[in-house]
Amino acid sequence: MSNKFNIPLAIPNISGNEARNLSECIETKFVSSVGKFVDEFENQLERLTTFKHACAVNSGTSALSLSLHNSGVRNNDLVIIPDYTFVATANAVKHCGGDPWLIDINPKNLNLDIKRVKNAIEENCKKVRGSWWHKKTGQRLAAIVPVFALGNAINFKELNDLYSNFGIPVIVDAAGALGVTSDKQALGKLKITCATISFNGNKTFTSGGGGAILTNNSEFYRTCKHTSTTARSGYEYIHDQIGFNHRMTNIQAAVGCAQLERYDEFINKKSYIHKFYSKNLNISDFASFHENICSSRWISYCLVKDNFNIDLEKLYNYAQKKGIQLRPFWVPMQMQPPFKLCLKQNLKVSKSIYKRVCTLPSSTNISEDELNHTVHVINTFFKSI
Ligand SMILES: Cc1ncc(COP(=O)(O)O)c(C=O)c1O
Repeated sequence: MSNKFNIPLAIPNISGNEARNLSECIETKFVSSVGKFVDEFENQLERLTTFKHACAVNSGTSALSLSLHNSGVRNNDLVIIPDYTFVATANAVKHCGGDPWLIDINPKNLNLDIKRVKNAIEENCKKVRGSWWHKKTGQRLAAIVPVFALGNAINFKELNDLYSNFGIPVIVDAAGALGVTSDKQALGKLKITCATISFNGNKTFTSGGGGAILTNNSEFYRTCKHTSTTARSGYEYIHDQIGFNHRMTNIQAAVGCAQLERYDEFINKKSYIHKFYSKNLNISDFASFHENICSSRWISYCLVKDNFNIDLEKLYNYAQKKGIQLRPFWVPMQMQPPFKLCLKQNLKVSKSIYKRVCTLPSSTNISEDELNHTVHVINTFFKSI
């Protein structure tokens, strides 16, 4: 039976000046990694996040691997990451020759549990010549990558303290968290090495594909920009170190600039969508929402209670038939074939929670009709069990 609804989880909202900007790229022939839109995009990111510097690159993954590389992560180094993340976080560590060290998450916001990070370092590492070394494996702990899962922030003070207490580079993977604040403070108040963003198509703001490194450290920024464009040292083809080809193109930035013009509108809509679900879904016997947290609400979700034995596949199939895409989210790194054997601490929370995260349609162009239909379908499903 055909359905008048087709409500995806998160699709781009490209109904602004994207086409106009793209035509300008074609007309001016500035389609590659130099052009006014790349500069404009970086300036806008600096203004919106209050970070001193933004370096635009071609994906969130590139932003992570470039940041890790420029923080000094090399072969055989350890990098702490949360078990619950998108695989790109772990891949980026491997791209630099490092090994992820998996730490559990905080059930209150699905993010790396900073207390567990501190305990893991203090119990398992010793500090020698200014660096932390894992006592059993002999590896150097070279960086920590907290992830702002689904747009949820970790308290900035906790992160700033982590960075200043241990002196280990901290790179926040804020892929989907553009727009997030902590205690009303903008992202740029993070006093860490850098934060990275993704502008992939499923993010609140897209550039088709793209990413950015945000930092308050001018030296780090210059290194990132230099190494993102083959580390060429002047007009001649002389390259002073091994570089990457990770720079964002003017075409990507043209789309990104049009998206950032609608910053407040998109951020407000994401928050509205979350509030709509938490107010109208009558599922408190079965599931809950993470309220009172700082979040960009990139993807809205509910968390099914751990004592509630329900096969969520049944809900997903039922919703699919009614034209709605509901789905589980990330699968923890401990279960991913390339990362199963990684060094890990106790990862119970992540293993228990990932199956209970049910993501809800969250596109900024979702209509009232579509939101009402989604709520009606989910409420009807839960009423029937
Ligand atoms: C937490 C996280 N990190 C990194 C990435 C990678 O970003 P990209 O797809 O732009 O490479 C994503 C993308 O979804 C993500 O969710």
